[in-house]
Amino acid sequence: MDIQVKSLKLDKIKTDVIVIPVFQDSKPMEENFQKIDAMLGKVLSKALVEDKSFAEEGQFNSFLSGKRIDVKEVILAGMGKDKKITEDKLRKFGGKLVNYLKSKNLSKVVVLSFGLGLKKVQVDRATYCLTEGLVLGGYSFDKYKSKCDSGKDKKEIKSITLLPQNDFEEKQMKKPINEAVTICNVTNIVRDLVNEPANVATPKYLADFAKKLFKKTKVKCKVLDKKAIKKLGMNLLLGVSKGSSEDPRLILLEYKGKCEKLGLVGKGVTFDAGGLNLKPSAYMDDMKEDMGGAAAVLGVFKAVADLKLSANLVGVIPCTENLCGSSAQKPGDVILTASGKTVEIANTDAEGRLILADALWYTATKLKPKKMIDIATLTGASVVTLGKIVAPIVGTDKELIDGLVTASNTSYERLWELPFYEEYLEDVKGKVADIKNLGLPKGEAGVIAGGAFLNEFVNDIPWAHIDIGGAVNSNGNGYIAKGHSGFGVRVLVEYLKG
Ligand code: BES
Ligand code: MN
Ligand code: ZN
Repeated sequence: MDIQVKSLKLDKIKTDVIVIPVFQDSKPMEENFQKIDAMLGKVLSKALVEDKSFAEEGQFNSFLSGKRIDVKEVILAGMGKDKKITEDKLRKFGGKLVNYLKSKNLSKVVVLSFGLGLKKVQVDRATYCLTEGLVLGGYSFDKYKSKCDSGKDKKEIKSITLLPQNDFEEKQMKKPINEAVTICNVTNIVRDLVNEPANVATPKYLADFAKKLFKKTKVKCKVLDKKAIKKLGMNLLLGVSKGSSEDPRLILLEYKGKCEKLGLVGKGVTFDAGGLNLKPSAYMDDMKEDMGGAAAVLGVFKAVADLKLSANLVGVIPCTENLCGSSAQKPGDVILTASGKTVEIANTDAEGRLILADALWYTATKLKPKKMIDIATLTGASVVTLGKIVAPIVGTDKELIDGLVTASNTSYERLWELPFYEEYLEDVKGKVADIKNLGLPKGEAGVIAGGAFLNEFVNDIPWAHIDIGGAVNSNGNGYIAKGHSGFGVRVLVEYLKG
């Protein structure tokens, strides 16, 4: 789908549909609206006067254009009250619109701009958010279906052209469209990757995928195999992988820019059965998504390269399965880690923190960034704490966390800081080893306990930990369909842009 802004002459327009956003608290004053209305014998303005419901939020009403203009349909798109429009309402509007157009098999679309007309949202942000809604909202994962759900072969939307009111507005809209298209296309790639079933998306597949993704970009991608991982003494990653016949991988990424060096670490468990502490069936259902952090980190590097940002990044992605084969590690095992600390495997299902511990140690000691962020589907407790809407964040660096939370409010992939007091950090002390991979019994403060374990491996490098156990999956919000959300790319790229 191609999205662009372009001034078009209305009497020469050739498209399937023109979409006109309309508001309850203001009349459409735009010149383009007046022209289209005149071409259609004033049916639009009459309709708006006669039936107030046309402008209600979420209403789409089609008018056939006859022969007076070379367009199949004109759609009045109800926006509700202008003074109540928010950035997220614009995303939701974009999402709903694109699905409405798809359901009607309209593939060439022109949308009248409302940028300068909005009372509460600036033109550049309005354009950005609308574009996000259009690109994210149209996503679906149906590569394994021989037929679409509707049974009909649906046409994809080919192009959406936003029609500016004037040259000045056209200029203001170009950059936000290009940026949002780039970032949201990458988010959709991430969603594809998370949606890929675990029999396809193995650790090797993730590594090969990364190599391919970065082939013609400024991102350097190196993959370490089991032998190299062993040589480094990354015994936590090896230990988790022992229950599976698939070998682990460590993906290393580098993107050189002017800024200070930042490390990004993502959890890449391609399937989490729990290990010998086997998950109950209902909890195992979605565990192909346990590489959502890894996919997000890959996505951030791709978006940063596509946008040519001046960020300076290193990325470390440990990839493994967590199964319960005959060589699987056992509860009570003690592992000597590369950092020198010993770890007691209190529960094989708390495997994310194990592989991330090795990855954070590697990042901190070998790559030495100024700051580090990890993103991981680490705990079910994150869903209990904040649901699927907001992801909890903890860490050791106030400025880093504040920066991420600010970026999260802009991108609307929202983060919420949980406390990380000293008392919590002590909960991971081991019985027989230095530390154990569980916090207090009964899972008290489970998200923070996960962070407390990771904290043992950051070597005093300022660090933040984002738990997307909940946010990796959405209940559906208008522009993110129910299912894998691709959470992480938009908030992290927003942070890196700022
Ligand atoms: N991958 C899971 C966490 C998870 C659960 C993500 C549900 C998404 C949805 C993680 O490896 C895990 O199993 N965590 C355990 C930790 C516990 C044993 C301390 C959990 O949350 O139950
Ligand atoms: Mn687990
Ligand atoms: Zn897991």
